[in-house]
Amino acid sequence: MDPLVAAATEAREKAHAPYSKFKVGAAVVDGDGRVHTGCNVENATYGLTICAERVAIFKAVSEGARGFTRVAVVADTDALTPPCGACRQILWEFCGDVEIVLANLSGKSETLRLGALLPRPFDGSFL
Ligand code: THU
Repeated sequence: MDPLVAAATEAREKAHAPYSKFKVGAAVVDGDGRVHTGCNVENATYGLTICAERVAIFKAVSEGARGFTRVAVVADTDALTPPCGACRQILWEFCGDVEIVLANLSGKSETLRLGALLPRPFDGSFL
């Protein structure tokens, strides 16, 4: 198995998703080749829930990691789960047009670029 998908699958097991029961894992590779992982962390208020992708990126960035080259997202769905809109924007901020692997627990996967999921992004180049 793709090691990044394996890392995201393992991270998914740590999800705190008692409300939706929808567990997601994410993993990112930084410019030094290090892997950072995240899972979704829900909250009883619902709105304070944070997705696996943002947890992975924020963990990595807060530890000084940059230059991300790949992202993996794993959920237990037949139709592969893509990052939500908010996560696409955050991923663009730190990863640009990065390669993203979407995978499920049955071994199905698809590789695409963030630009395909977030066309015409708003970013710092406009500021
Ligand atoms: N979720 C993620 O963690 N990543 C996604 O790409 C889609 C949605 C989480 C948020 C929430 O905890 C649960 O999945 C249901 O929306």
